[in-house]
Amino acid sequence: MSKGETIVVFGGSSGIGRAVVLAAVAAGARVRAIGRDRGRLEALLREVPALEIATADIRDAEAVGRALEGLARIDHVVVSAGTVTATPILTSDMSALREPFNERVFGVMHVVRHAAPRMRDGSFLFVTGDLVERPVAGVSAVGAAAAAVESLVRCWALELAPLRFNIISPGSIDTPLHDKLFGAERDKALAHQAERIPLKRVGRAEEVAQAALALLGNRFVTGATLNIDGGLRLAP
Ligand SMILES: NC(=O)c1ccc[n+]([C@@H]2O[C@H](COP(=O)([O-])OP(=O)(O)OC[C@H]3O[C@@H](n4cnc5c(N)ncnc54)[C@H](OP(=O)(O)O)[C@@H]3O)[C@@H](O)[C@H]2O)c1
Repeated sequence: MSKGETIVVFGGSSGIGRAVVLAAVAAGARVRAIGRDRGRLEALLREVPALEIATADIRDAEAVGRALEGLARIDHVVVSAGTVTATPILTSDMSALREPFNERVFGVMHVVRHAAPRMRDGSFLFVTGDLVERPVAGVSAVGAAAAAVESLVRCWALELAPLRFNIISPGSIDTPLHDKLFGAERDKALAHQAERIPLKRVGRAEEVAQAALALLGNRFVTGATLNIDGGLRLAP
């Protein structure tokens, strides 16, 4: 990523996306952060006045298009937006089982369909996760939707070249996502996760952002998935 490039970050108001926003601003990019909650975006804007913000739910194609208005040219798009919900197969209703696909699969389709026509030779970077390879019982739909995104990326890297498409697949990263998942038990849950990781700690959002900027900036990487997990995938 070069100074002066324009980067759009869906899910830029929290966690990994927020860290990407801060790193990209520090690198001299023009950055637009997008999320659903305007209050969270405005809090970030107070911290980083150079930022641009817009609200959109990536499940809503028209809202995604509106969130990109005013950007004649986009160089890079990062999609870190995503929620994690348990959907036990026998007790969840079908709308709950479809929801991760609406958000993650159709969400990235909305983003690509609106953003790619404004791009020349930049890149897309999507955040998936270790659930693709290390399933957690009861969370099948999120893992399957994230796996579908990894498949889409490999196809779009061919279909839309010279635009580049890459994936970052984090393991356990200390972000507000864990507040939502575990509430008051978040520190205990993260400590438990750290025990299973060869590097014996969870990751920091800044470490993911550092890798994200490297993938955006490297003009010979496309169709790649980079695991950032402290070796979790090698663990028994
Ligand atoms: N943290 C981890 O340990 C971990 C591990 C593996 C994978 N991941 C994946 O990494 C991604 C980022 O996670 P995180 O830990 O940074 O989570 P986070 O702190 O909860 O941040 C999620 C961001 O996405 C936005 N968002 C959520 N749903 C959205 C939607 N439908 N449309 C638009 N924006 C949406 C949120 O803002 P609003 O709520 O205001 O929309 C927020 O800015 C997620 O896809 C997650 O599944 C995380």
